[in-house]
Amino acid sequence: MENGRRHFRHTSICLLGAAAFFFIYLNWDWKWVSSLTPPLSSAAAGPQGEDPGPYHVAYPKNYKYIMDDTPTCNTKTPFLVLMVHIATGDVAARDTIRKTWGSEKLVLGRPVETLFVLGLPGGPDAERQQEELKQENLQHHDLVQSNFQDSYHNLTIKTMMMLEWLAAHCSKASYVMKIDSDVLLHVHNVVQLLLDPSTAKLNYLTGLVWWHSPVLRNPFNKFYMPRNVVAEAEYPPYPLGMAYIMSLDLPAKILAVSPRIKPIFIEDAYLGMCMQRLGIPPTDPPEKTMFIVDPEHPLSRCSLSKVIAVTTTSILQMRSYWERSRQPDAGC
Ligand SMILES: *[C@@H]1O[C@H](CO)[C@@H](O)[C@H](O)[C@H]1NC(C)=O
Repeated sequence: MENGRRHFRHTSICLLGAAAFFFIYLNWDWKWVSSLTPPLSSAAAGPQGEDPGPYHVAYPKNYKYIMDDTPTCNTKTPFLVLMVHIATGDVAARDTIRKTWGSEKLVLGRPVETLFVLGLPGGPDAERQQEELKQENLQHHDLVQSNFQDSYHNLTIKTMMMLEWLAAHCSKASYVMKIDSDVLLHVHNVVQLLLDPSTAKLNYLTGLVWWHSPVLRNPFNKFYMPRNVVAEAEYPPYPLGMAYIMSLDLPAKILAVSPRIKPIFIEDAYLGMCMQRLGIPPTDPPEKTMFIVDPEHPLSRCSLSKVIAVTTTSILQMRSYWERSRQPDAGC
């Protein structure tokens, strides 16, 4: 009896202790950790600027396009430009996209073009990779490359350089879609949505919109953001970076406000910050099933027939989904 009570007391103390620890863990500001973490890019201080630190990126800076001889938006004006963000070394994904949804060039009578957005390759074989990229572009003329270091931490630079390129070249096209390289796109459904009379032609941004995305304060999370960088508890609404569509009046508008908002490394949240400054909220897609992130695979033929963009786990899966999504009878 006495023993049982003591045991009970011990267990409660342990549970309370664990709960208190967990509570502190969730609420602690972790400033001391960020002061211990070395900046990711301490070598980034270039001639034109200081080190942006681990949470910001080196933008704006005078980056240049070193490869963009594509006819898209030069001799051809598409209705929709698909801009794929892809790692420099991922030739296999580029080839798969070129052979699958990237090969759909006339959809519902509208011209569609696919381009790949790149920075500079890094690592010991960067020079060889760059040579291969040149060869690849000689064959396809679909690479848009600028001279920032291509890396996960620099994705916001990639997005801003994409917007700069679009504002300079593609303002006569109607819409752009930014897509990550592991995403299967149902181009027919995209064009159908964009041709719908209820779809806005200006100030239009859609995708899988995160309306109340919390700013993460756990320093072990890859999206950790300290309070002294972003003070708000939530980011403004933004479409998830995997795939979003915007009308082509927006790139110039976003670029006009961005110098007043220091870019954070989370590219889609930064886009939301710029949109908030513009006072233009994103639009939810008409159906929740159009943008799907990390679903349970395999997806049924029926859901593939309704989707606009869905993340895949391999290029083989992307290929087989694309083939299935083109079969007319979806069996819904
Ligand atoms: C981001 O790009 C800049 C410009 O090229 C470079 O200086 C910096 O090292 C890059 N950062 C990372 C983490 O790759």
